[in-house]
Amino acid sequence: MAVRKLAPEEFQPKSFEFTPETEAFAQEQIAKYPPGRQASAVIPLLWRVQEQHDGWLPQKAIEAVAALLDMPPIRVMEVATFYTMFNLAPVGKYFIQFCGTTPCLLRGAGDIKKVLESRFGEQGHLSDDGMFSWLEVECLGACCNAPMVQINDDYYEDLTPQNFEKLLNDLAAGRPVKKGPQNGRRASEPEDAIKTLTDPSLYDGSMIGTWRKRFEEEAVKAATTGEAAAAQATAASNPKPAKPESGRAVETEKADTPAKRAKEGEAPVTGAEQKAASPKAVEKDSKKS
Ligand code: FES
Repeated sequence: MAVRKLAPEEFQPKSFEFTPETEAFAQEQIAKYPPGRQASAVIPLLWRVQEQHDGWLPQKAIEAVAALLDMPPIRVMEVATFYTMFNLAPVGKYFIQFCGTTPCLLRGAGDIKKVLESRFGEQGHLSDDGMFSWLEVECLGACCNAPMVQINDDYYEDLTPQNFEKLLNDLAAGRPVKKGPQNGRRASEPEDAIKTLTDPSLYDGSMIGTWRKRFEEEAVKAATTGEAAAAQATAASNPKPAKPESGRAVETEKADTPAKRAKEGEAPVTGAEQKAASPKAVEKDSKKS
């Protein structure tokens, strides 16, 4: 995992102010929690502040959130540096989160990464025009449409180097782009033809009760051919031995239990007798003699 720390001094603004909209949002969030528990609103507030500040959190913004929530700034810093959804350095107008997890890699994410590297250089840096930056992240949950990237709030899936280059060119030129699959798929349906659940009988109701019908037919067949009667006769003449102990705990009679003594008409053992028979008492007696 990459080290997550605040952006260098030269990127940090000297001050940060909430916009009236962010302030109103913050009060709305704080009101959801009981008095004294306003710190629970820290994540939505950081998120909204990040949106206000071009997609990243400067130190002054983190401190402003801490002051608003009456939290020590280090506590808010801990949250901001822990969650990768918070950017701690400037990001491009188009912030690309590239999925580099196994399903995407198996479907060609390596080639998508090469496109990113060749166009924008190392991850975590702004492109020369400030329009793009990218970051490799773990699975974004769209593996059915691998490989994929998230750009700002939207997913772009079923990528190839060609359609990804086109997508980036369109974004750079301000042309409209299609969100979701880039290969003509509507969602995550099969790429070519549907190959499963194609039997029409699955949908016309004719399958209802099929299993029951099959058992009934087999029973009728057995009765007509005499199979059932033959099976019964064999079972009667050749019974399988019962195994009462299989799978059960075997009960054995204990050597000298109160129940056994009562059954055999003997008096129960008294407390004094038990004491006299204890190992300590026996040892004492042997020492005396
Ligand atoms: S592995 Fe890439 S979206 Fe799941």
